Order: sequence, then structure tokens, then C-alpha cells
Amino acid sequence: MKAKTARLDKLLGSLGYGSRQEIARLARVGGVALDGVDVTDASTRIAVTPDLPRRMTVDGRPVDPPQGLMLILNKPLGMTCSHKEDGALVYDVLPDRWRRRDPAISTVGRLDKDTSGLLLLTDDGDLLHRIISPKRHVKKTYRATLARPLAGTETALFASGALMLEGEDKPLAPATLEIISPTEARLTVTEGRYHQVRRMFAAVGNHVEALHRESLGGLVLPPDLAPGQWRLATAEEIEAVFA
Ligand code: URA
Repeated sequence: MKAKTARLDKLLGSLGYGSRQEIARLARVGGVALDGVDVTDASTRIAVTPDLPRRMTVDGRPVDPPQGLMLILNKPLGMTCSHKEDGALVYDVLPDRWRRRDPAISTVGRLDKDTSGLLLLTDDGDLLHRIISPKRHVKKTYRATLARPLAGTETALFASGALMLEGEDKPLAPATLEIISPTEARLTVTEGRYHQVRRMFAAVGNHVEALHRESLGGLVLPPDLAPGQWRLATAEEIEAVFA
């Protein structure tokens, strides 16, 4: 298949490097190189391939990855998954340039402001929808710390496929509860309803005091990522989400 091509100024503009004029100026003075050769004309068409960061430099540094990226973030507490709300947003962890990209980088689903852990971000709309599509049943595993000891009946109720959340008219799909201690449990769900985990425990008279997402599909939060840290996902990690 022939690689998609784009004008240099349009490509770097979409990656947040500046306006077309700024990129044209940068290219003219030798700020952009492809395979070690300066690209001085901003109208030059460039093949947009995933290996571009290994071949192109901007101001001597590898260019950012082209569209089609996936990031893994260890979401810290206190950040909102939104582009436009007030207060600290998850996008604040990204460099300014990455926040100017078009298409924009968005979270794959949402975690509450008070939930920490594995959060994926992508600029690939198809990939995003494949992960959050209810038809795919991608498993989401959370570790919950509870205000009150578990009664012991929750595992069967959550697994029954009959639990109804307040204000809804369709029961939840079966979910798996693993009890870790009287006030700690690991819950795996396949849906993504609003505040689902907190509302499931509220439905059994309990209250979630802390919530942390450990995994999505077969992708476990990498232990090398401290809260607030992120990195590009590898192709194997993206595949693992669907495993
Ligand atoms: N369920 C919740 O209640 N909150 C989250 O952030 C994720 C799942």
C-alpha cells in the first residue's frame, strides 16, 4: 500500500509545531531534516509513516509520532478527563505541543477525578471506538477500597447479571468480584456506565473510598509508570487491550 503523503508545513502544523509560516521559516533555515538531508521547501510532500520519528528531525530532535498514537498514563488523583472543564485536566501532563495536535489526543473513556490508574489516550478515533464499544466487552479491572466491610453476598449478586443501578432500567452485565480483604476488592466489569463501580457498591449499601484501575483487557498498568507519568504504548500493548 502506498503511504499517505502530506505537505511538510501541513504535517508539522498538525503535530503542533506552529503555523504554516513559522514552519516555512524554520525549514528555510535548515531546521527540518529527512534522512539527514535538510528539507528547506515547506511544500515538499512527505510520506507519513510510523517510522517518521526515526527519519525526520525538527531542530535536531526526532519529530513527534504522526497520527495513530496511543499513550499509557498512570492517572493521578485530582485530574479530570475533559478538554474544557476548570481545574487540573489529564491533558496538563502532556507537553504544550502535544496539546496542540490536530486531530487532538483524547482519553479512551473516562476515569473520575477521584480515580487513579491506567488511562489510555489516543488521536485515533477508530481505535478509541473499538476499545470502548460495548460489543467488544473489553474488561476493566479496578481495585476498590471500601468504607464498610463486605457482607459476603456481593460476589454472587455482581456475577448474576441482575443488578440494577439506581435510575436505570437495564441490569448490569455479570461482573467478577475478587475479595482481597474485608474492605478491599478487585472488580472486573465489561461495561462503562457512568460512575459504574461506585454505583455498584452503593447499590449494596457500601461506599468506595478509593478506586484505582489496574488493567484494560490484557493490558496491565506498567509498574514503571509513577502517578502522572505517561509513555507511548507499543504495538504489543495496544494488541493486549483486545486480548
Ligand atoms: N467506575 C467508577 O465509578 N469510576 C471510575 O472512574 C471508573 C469506573
